[in-house]
Amino acid sequence: MNKDYLKLGVNIDHVATLRNARGGKYPDVLRAAKFVKELGADRVTIHLREDRRHIMDQDVHNICEWGGLAVNFEIAATDEMLAIGLKYKPDTILIVPENRMERTTEGGLNVIAKKDVIGAMIREFKKAQSKVSLFIEADEAQIKMAASIGAHSIEIHTGEYCDAITDGNQVKADKCLEKIQNGAKLGKSLGLEIHAGHGITYESVTPIASIPEITELNIGHFLVAEALFVGLAQSIGEMRRLMDLARA
Ligand code: PXP
Repeated sequence: MNKDYLKLGVNIDHVATLRNARGGKYPDVLRAAKFVKELGADRVTIHLREDRRHIMDQDVHNICEWGGLAVNFEIAATDEMLAIGLKYKPDTILIVPENRMERTTEGGLNVIAKKDVIGAMIREFKKAQSKVSLFIEADEAQIKMAASIGAHSIEIHTGEYCDAITDGNQVKADKCLEKIQNGAKLGKSLGLEIHAGHGITYESVTPIASIPEITELNIGHFLVAEALFVGLAQSIGEMRRLMDLARA
């Protein structure tokens, strides 16, 4: 593989959001995992939230049992999630902060405040041969703590940068980008693998993807949202064809 290749992890949580809007089976989350593999994703990310608002336990089971693509299993640092992670032994465990009221993962993990709990989880997952990644802000002290408690990688939170781009606030975006660049350099120098994600769109991907220390991006919401526009033509076309056939 080209040493500069940047991996893409596709987060399919919002395929499950859409499924859960109706209950039932459509869109099928396992089919989405298989499809993103076919389309060249390097990993599939699923976040099993405490409130099960999108991905459900059965999705985790189905995708991990299928085993066709490396799973990046996103979880909060709780005993329940530790047990589920140890049961399925995915390629990577991505530990994130979780707050019941938030709409999405807001802010990075406070690794310093939770170093004992997270450190213990890292040791357990290492025994099970899962790599552990910590979702953090590009903050020097947090990055150093992530390295010192034995994380394999960090995923740098790009949400603030991406929001600044969406809002047209270039001054803020430049500041955020510099922080991400410095964080990526520091993390790599400490032996961490550097990933990044949250809020990435076509408008914000290029500067992030140009940071040489970053080896993987995790992208979800925008990809699923954009898919409606690039995919509806085909689904409506097929429905039209079947309707016309029925009347032929
Ligand atoms: N990384 C982490 C840790 C996340 O929580 C999320 C959102 O679920 C993502 C990446 C992907 O963010 P988005 O859905 O905004 O692309």
